Order: sequence, then structure tokens, then C-alpha cells
Amino acid sequence: MPHEYEVRNEESVLSENMETVAAPLSGGGGTAKPEDAHGAIDIKAVTHEFPGNVLAVSDANLRVRGGEFVSIVGPSGCGKTTLLNLLAGLIDVQTGSISLAGSPPKAGRHDVAYMLARDCLFPWRTALSNATLGGEFRGVPKKERVQRARDMLRKVGLSGFENNYPKALSHGMRQRVALARTFSLSSSILLMDEPFGALDAQTKLQLEDVLLDLWTEERRTVVFITHDLNEAVTLSDRVIVMSARPGRIIKDIPIPLERPRSARALQKDPLYHEIYAEVWTWLEQGLNGGDDG
Ligand SMILES: Nc1ncnc2c1ncn2[C@@H]1O[C@H](COP(=O)(O)OP(=O)(O)O)[C@@H](O)[C@H]1O
Ligand SMILES: [Mg+2]
Repeated sequence: MPHEYEVRNEESVLSENMETVAAPLSGGGGTAKPEDAHGAIDIKAVTHEFPGNVLAVSDANLRVRGGEFVSIVGPSGCGKTTLLNLLAGLIDVQTGSISLAGSPPKAGRHDVAYMLARDCLFPWRTALSNATLGGEFRGVPKKERVQRARDMLRKVGLSGFENNYPKALSHGMRQRVALARTFSLSSSILLMDEPFGALDAQTKLQLEDVLLDLWTEERRTVVFITHDLNEAVTLSDRVIVMSARPGRIIKDIPIPLERPRSARALQKDPLYHEIYAEVWTWLEQGLNGGDDG
């Protein structure tokens, strides 16, 4: 659903995102302190209010360890995207503080990548040249970025489709290209805003498995927004539940399911269903405005 900040010129949003997406292939956080160089995130007492007294995020506190996969769930409009945009430096922190690998958020940081629900592929570029785009923005040598993008397209199951244009790819395949583009960059921190939100159930399960494989292979810190509880439990080390607006973090639920995981195999695991029920209970509580009514 478009909000005001999304109504900006599509190209400017895209280039900001691409800049953000355009991360170095190795850590390279610049000012990051050595002990924070592994993609840790620290959100302290963050409150965000939009004009018109719209309190989108209220007193959020969250620490994410480097290499951890954390999902944030919550009712529509509870401030999930706002929180992610704050992490990405796309909107400024008003109250409280945020640090990523020891330094404040900033759009265009090379160690942070952002993936949206929309695939944001350029229609005039092939799958391969869309997948290399981030590397191009940050000047990765052509041979290296093409190699990396080809490799990633293979991993997401798109070998043989490198030269297809987006119009000749299904929605699921386009989102695979977007995944390949994001992972081509090796940013230590990945911010993902409902990347599979618009996919059908079957394609979603397949892409969750692709994401699990990519993440298992090269552990990055992932903050993953979703309104799909199955998806959150399947993918995450922890699920953070937010309440309806003003969005507060009301519960932090560890997911002790063994890894490696498979989205399809988990459907048959009783522990998975138990955890799902717990997350659902908290979400229901959050629908009523969380623990403070
Ligand atoms: N630029 C903006 N100006 C005013 N209100 C906004 C703006 N962006 C978001 N909001 C409001 O802030 C709240 C949280 O939005 P958002 O973070 O997009 O929620 P979510 O991603 O959880 O659905 C909503 O009520 C939304 O309408
Ligand atoms: Mg959102």
C-alpha cells in the first residue's frame, strides 16, 4: 500500500535503494569498530512520529546479532516499514538511536542492502544485467560482478534465463532475480520488506527455501518484515511481534527449530506448529494494541 514516502518519483526511490543495495563484497564498513564489524544492529528507544500526530513506532528496543535472521511481524500499518526505513537511513531517526555495525544509519551505506516487495527490475535490462546492477552502481569490476551475478542466478534456479527480459519472466522468477541481485552484493546486513508478499503460496514456499539456502551458505544479518507468520517462523532465529499502531515491540520469540530447514518439510513438524500458535497468540494480542491497551 503506497504511503506518502513511497509516492516519490519511482526512479529516485529506486536509485536510493540501489545505492543502499550497492554494497561492497567484503565487510568494508569504514568507520565500524572491529567488535561491531559483523553486522550487529542496535535499536534503542526509537520513537517515530509522522506529521499529523501519526505515531508510527513507539519506544522500540531491539538488538540483532551479526549473522542472525530476525523477522518482524505485526498488523498492517503498525510501523514495520517505518522501522526498516529508519534502519536503511531512508528516513531520519527522530528519537532514540540506531546503530548498524557500530555506526548510524545512512542511505547508500555499502554494508546494507534493501530488498522490497516490488522487484524493481529495469524492464530494458536482462535478468543478468538486472542482477549485476548493484555491483555496477558501486564500481565492482565488470568481470567480477558478472561472475557473481551468474553464480547467484544459478543458485536461485535461473540458469538458462540470464538473457530473458523481465516481461518474459513470471512474477516468482522476477523476485528470484531480485534475490540474486541482493545476494550478489555480499552486504553484511540485509533489510527485506515483505519480499515475497505478492507471491502465490507455492512460489512463496519455493523462494523461502531459496532464501534459506542463500542465507545458510553466507550468513548475513537479516531483518525480514512479513505479515505471514508461517514465513516468519520458517526463516527466523527470532520473531519480533509488534502491536497495532502505535507500533510497539511486544514480544521477542526465539525459534529453536533445527537448521538447515526446509519450508516444505517444516509443514510436517509438530514443534513448528506449536511455535506458530505461540506467535499467533502474541499477534492477536498485538491487534488489540499490545500490552498497554
Ligand atoms: N510519510 C508518512 N506520512 C504520514 N504517515 C505515514 C507516512 N509513512 C507511514 N505513515 C503511517 O505510519 C504508520 C506505519 O506505516 P508503515 O510503517 O508503512 O506500516 P507497516 O509497514 O507496518 O504496514 C501508518 O499509519 C502509515 O499510514
Ligand atoms: Mg509495510
